Amino acid sequence: MAHLLAPSLLSADFAELGKAVALIEGSAAAWHHIDVMDGVFVPNISFGLPVIRSIRKHAKKPFDVHLMIVRPDQYISAFRDAGADHLTVHLEACPHLHRSIQAIKAAGMKAGVAINPHSRVDLLEEVLADIDIVCLMSVNPGFGGQRFIERTYAKIAALRELRARTGSKAVIEIDGGVDAGNLQRLVEAGADVLVAGNSVFGAPDPAAAIAALAS
Ligand code: DX5
Ligand code: ZN
Repeated sequence: MAHLLAPSLLSADFAELGKAVALIEGSAAAWHHIDVMDGVFVPNISFGLPVIRSIRKHAKKPFDVHLMIVRPDQYISAFRDAGADHLTVHLEACPHLHRSIQAIKAAGMKAGVAINPHSRVDLLEEVLADIDIVCLMSVNPGFGGQRFIERTYAKIAALRELRARTGSKAVIEIDGGVDAGNLQRLVEAGADVLVAGNSVFGAPDPAAAIAALAS
């Protein structure tokens, strides 16, 4: 499968958020990656439901919403109503992860689970067959523009093995520090979806950056 690109709006200029959404819509990118941070699970605050609701009206491509928040279960239907197509929760934020996954699917969304750099891929074994997306964090969540953690390649290999063993069809999404220098190796290692924030919106020509990273 050819890889998919999901530009992260976190790195866009929020004064021009509509333009960033339009740029993604008119590009070869597949999904909008939308990072929600609460200042508790991660040491940063980004944006939330009203912003997602506003931009939803200007987009057709899937909204891949990455929740970096505690107690995400409280907000599942609210994110669905705001326009999320995929809802990804953190393993480290969900004491009842199986229940959270079922609730996301029951609300009509694709279910994703993100794991922090310190979390072993094996921790997903019991739920992998139930989920649509595994988001491997290749930086510590909370900020755009951080340096890629090299251990991620080994985690992709471990995840592919676990996916085959459990009969899971989950796609492998890599989030953090993805750029033109590591994208090809990540795809060769087995990444299906690449999130890119700084390497798109920090580039002098974001449209050209998307075209290069998506091909
Ligand atoms: C980090 C977020 C990422 C971030 C990626 O906490 O989950 O999605 O926007 O940004 P870059 O590509 O700049 O590392
Ligand atoms: Zn993210």
